[in-house]
Amino acid sequence: MEEQVYLNGTYIPKANANISIMDRGFLFGDGVYELIPLYGKKIFLLDKHLKRLENSLNLIGMKNSGFDINNIENIIKTLIEKNKYENYFFYIHITRGIQNTRQHIYQKNLKPTVLIMGENYSVFDKGEISKGFQASIQSDFRWTKSNIKSISLLGSVLLKNYASQHGFYETLLIRDNKLTEGSASNVFVVKDNKIFTPKLSVDLLPGVTRDLLINLLRQNNLDVFEEDVTESDLKIADEVWCCSSTNFVAPIIQIDDLTINNGAVGNIALKAYDLVRDFIAGY
Ligand code: PDD
Repeated sequence: MEEQVYLNGTYIPKANANISIMDRGFLFGDGVYELIPLYGKKIFLLDKHLKRLENSLNLIGMKNSGFDINNIENIIKTLIEKNKYENYFFYIHITRGIQNTRQHIYQKNLKPTVLIMGENYSVFDKGEISKGFQASIQSDFRWTKSNIKSISLLGSVLLKNYASQHGFYETLLIRDNKLTEGSASNVFVVKDNKIFTPKLSVDLLPGVTRDLLINLLRQNNLDVFEEDVTESDLKIADEVWCCSSTNFVAPIIQIDDLTINNGAVGNIALKAYDLVRDFIAGY
């Protein structure tokens, strides 16, 4: 059977799922999204993702959009049944909806467009994690509402492609001399066995994996500080790693021409990876 997706209340084959050219998501990138892993057949930390989705919707004025995000669990479960998914990812995309004319000012009471589908992202195995990855530093030229999980991703797309074109995994972003996040990940650094990650602000996404890592590391008696990390802190770090729902700990062993920890993945990064892996196994 062809892979089914959910679009605006119906389940249809992915190839037949179309949206209007007048959809504000298409014309303006006017909408928000979430990406949720499925481990085995279990939806990972759904409540945290729904809470962030609700917050993103509130922040773009879609609080009472008419779509009840509490339906998402059942929709995902139906897609799991229909597509026999296991160890997959769910992409949830909500736009402000279709408007008859292209204008920046949105009409009130538009019906949101809701797409939910499975996506198969590539995930690093432990062998790749143990070898580590390269990253680049770039200025964070995205907007200053990066706490919203907006579908307007051109900045992130350009920054991630910059990394990819140079053979790197990620681009680490600096604004006003401070590390914000990666183009599609949050970032942790280790110095003298203390772990630092930029504190939450409008400059970064409140990552679900970031939050999980902070809790797991603290439960294991490691010191984690949510505070500013400068570009020079990053450059003298003993360890650096990126985290996201797709790759929960991706250790960075080189940043542009600078080698971190003599090019070896550090013990705390490996510990962090194992903690999340074990948490998932027991989930
Ligand atoms: N992105 N920061 C940015 C800019 C991100 O795009 C992501 C994840 C994260 C990590 O968030 P979380 O741990 O909740 O996945 C941080 C997803 C994977 C994406 O856009 O595909």
